[in-house]
Amino acid sequence: MHPTVEATIEEVAATGAPREMIAILDYGSQYSRLIARRVRECRVYCELLPADTSLAELRRLGAKGVILSGGPDSVYDEGARRVDQAILESELPVLGICYGMQLLANQLGGRVEPQSGRREYGPAEIRVVADAGTGADAATDTARRDGLFAGLGIAEGAGIPVWMSHGDSVGALPPGFTEVARSLSGALAAMADDRGRIGIQFHPEVSHTPQGRAMLENFLFGVCGCAPSWTSGAFIEEAVERIRRQVGEEGRVICGLSGGVDSAVAALLVHRAIGDRLTCIFVDTGCMRAGEPEQVVETFRTHLRIPLVAVDARTRFLGRLAGVTDPEQKRRIIGEEFVFEAEAERLREREPIGFLAQGTLYPDVIESTSHDANAAQKIKTHHNVGGLPEGMRFALVEPLRYVFKDEVREVGQALGLPEEWVWRHPFPGPGLAIRVIGEVTPERLETLCQADAIVIEELRRAELYRQIGQAFAVLTPLQSVGVMGDGRTYASMVAVRAVTTGDFMTADWARLPHELLGRIANRIVNEVPGVNRVVYDITSKPPATIEWE
Ligand code: XMP
Repeated sequence: MHPTVEATIEEVAATGAPREMIAILDYGSQYSRLIARRVRECRVYCELLPADTSLAELRRLGAKGVILSGGPDSVYDEGARRVDQAILESELPVLGICYGMQLLANQLGGRVEPQSGRREYGPAEIRVVADAGTGADAATDTARRDGLFAGLGIAEGAGIPVWMSHGDSVGALPPGFTEVARSLSGALAAMADDRGRIGIQFHPEVSHTPQGRAMLENFLFGVCGCAPSWTSGAFIEEAVERIRRQVGEEGRVICGLSGGVDSAVAALLVHRAIGDRLTCIFVDTGCMRAGEPEQVVETFRTHLRIPLVAVDARTRFLGRLAGVTDPEQKRRIIGEEFVFEAEAERLREREPIGFLAQGTLYPDVIESTSHDANAAQKIKTHHNVGGLPEGMRFALVEPLRYVFKDEVREVGQALGLPEEWVWRHPFPGPGLAIRVIGEVTPERLETLCQADAIVIEELRRAELYRQIGQAFAVLTPLQSVGVMGDGRTYASMVAVRAVTTGDFMTADWARLPHELLGRIANRIVNEVPGVNRVVYDITSKPPATIEWE
């Protein structure tokens, strides 16, 4: 039985947003999150907010501009999501993308028409209309009306490649708006007024709109007047300050390290803020990759000199996993925090610890507070998303709550986390337990560990590690016949998985060079006892998932 602390979760809002920000209102487009990432890449802080966020809330957050995302609704649908009219009537610059543009038109007195017969999805070309930025007084026109296209170096009459995706389109401009661009098929592609309200019928955030980044920059810097000030240095300073405020002069914090980059960076930030009032706890479940438990201890204790309690819980976890073959059950077992809780309580007996630091990232936050009613169906339990183990009484410190993965890496690098750690592929909480298909035994774990280490080593050697989103070995429960030397073998089959992906929601199998695959297979069968066959997984996600379990 594991100890429980009888009290409820006491969650503390760990943050207030930094001053200058852009609000992205989410109307359910698959690209909403991508818009947020692109804005951050322009070094402007932004947040993805629900469609019905009020002007008052935007004021509270310090918004300097608003982006209305695309979405599946049609403005005339019953229950179609709308934007707070007060936002449109305020002085805030607004960029409406696709559905966002239609909202602008609809709510400001224009007309939206269903685009029957001329629906445009995918690549298209648009032209800036002759008198909007290419005429005699181009400079004023450019600044005033087509701020989005300023400085793109587009020759008069030349097409701009963009990614269109819409059914409806704007048929009549709202009062005060001017037509700025049309698609070759004749649909209105961009409109603007002289108060910084712009509507576009294409997606600047996707890579298929090559000049999309420049257009976003025009909106952020030119129209909204933002500065590219969201840098890792600025973030660290601000995060450290905020942690100090939250934890106070005396407060103590614990932080569980998983071996991944997020918890490590969260710990580094807290350590920078409050020094040795932070204690890290690392629980070795026996399901980590080769060499990683040792690296956690070495890096934190010796290299970074951060107080660390390391608990060897291999025997306990492996005991609990004995005989278990169901993946969700394995997840539950590894996800149980009893060893961590017990350790935290033990530390607490010595000194009062009021805070728990976690490496929750912005995508996790977006996911768990999904603005979309049809939130993606839960396919696997991802136990590390959100909240505290039930019954733990700590205030949460979540310094990464508003940052994306690539930003965490940058911050980690700036804080001195070793390169190898910073760039490590994501690793599921349950670790190798869900990559040993079937029963998890110490022997089978060891087999997988060795095979996996070869996959990673060869990828690094081929200098392909960073281009791959995630790569690993899977130990299948299949045995097959082989021949080694003069003898017949009957041994295990290992599968190699390597995927390219942006967000891990979808992924493609990596087209690794055959030579490399050959070397990996060769080494695994030669060096790992009990394996005589290696296969390469060539399914994308969907329909498969990245992990096998
Ligand atoms: P799937 O297999 O669903 O994985 O395509 C998507 C990403 O999530 C990781 N993953 C997990 N992470 N606990 C985690 O912390 C889990 O139970 C879990 N299952 C999958 C997976 O490694 C990939 O990066």
